[in-house]
Amino acid sequence: MSDYTTLVNQISACTKCGLSKGRTKSVPGDGSTSADVMFIGEGPGFYEDQQGIPFVGRAGNLLNEMLASIGLRREDVYITNMVKCRPPNNRDPFPVEISSCAPYMDAQIEMIQPKVIVALGRYSFSKFFPGETIGKARGRPREWRGLVVYPMYHPAAALRSGKLHDSLRQDFSKLPDLIREVSHRRETGAQPKRETVRQMSMF
Ligand code: URA
Repeated sequence: MSDYTTLVNQISACTKCGLSKGRTKSVPGDGSTSADVMFIGEGPGFYEDQQGIPFVGRAGNLLNEMLASIGLRREDVYITNMVKCRPPNNRDPFPVEISSCAPYMDAQIEMIQPKVIVALGRYSFSKFFPGETIGKARGRPREWRGLVVYPMYHPAAALRSGKLHDSLRQDFSKLPDLIREVSHRRETGAQPKRETVRQMSMF
């Protein structure tokens, strides 16, 4: 059994926090485990809980549409959430739920080693940069422990606001160039340098 399958089985059987009591299915993640890009949302909603697959409701349709706008399909990327079980009535996840689930998130990042982590929304963003606001940070790739984190608004927020929708589309449009840049850096063995970080922040 692969390490990834073992992890998925652990998540499916997890009872580390109260969210496990109300779930229909846990929602470990979806897509390619060798993807260049990993998207991290907040937590499963109604349809995700029913199907055990992240981002299959309205926010998921928008995510699919944004991916298609840059020539990517869901199978080309990896998609997961900060918490793997649905919070009741889609409330925000509690800090204790996020911290219980964090080892799974960390293991997924470790296994997939994505070139770019797209942090969708404030909960995902604050895993990497606690205390900062997504509104200020969005659209600028940042370095985090040798990986590149690219913060964007959450698709559900973009569904509620035309302005955020435009920002999300704009941020997505820059993703292909960012992936190319990070790939090039990895191939040439160049370590992330201050200079590169500064260049990246020009996106
Ligand atoms: N919102 C999320 O953050 N994740 C999902 O899987 C669906 C909606």
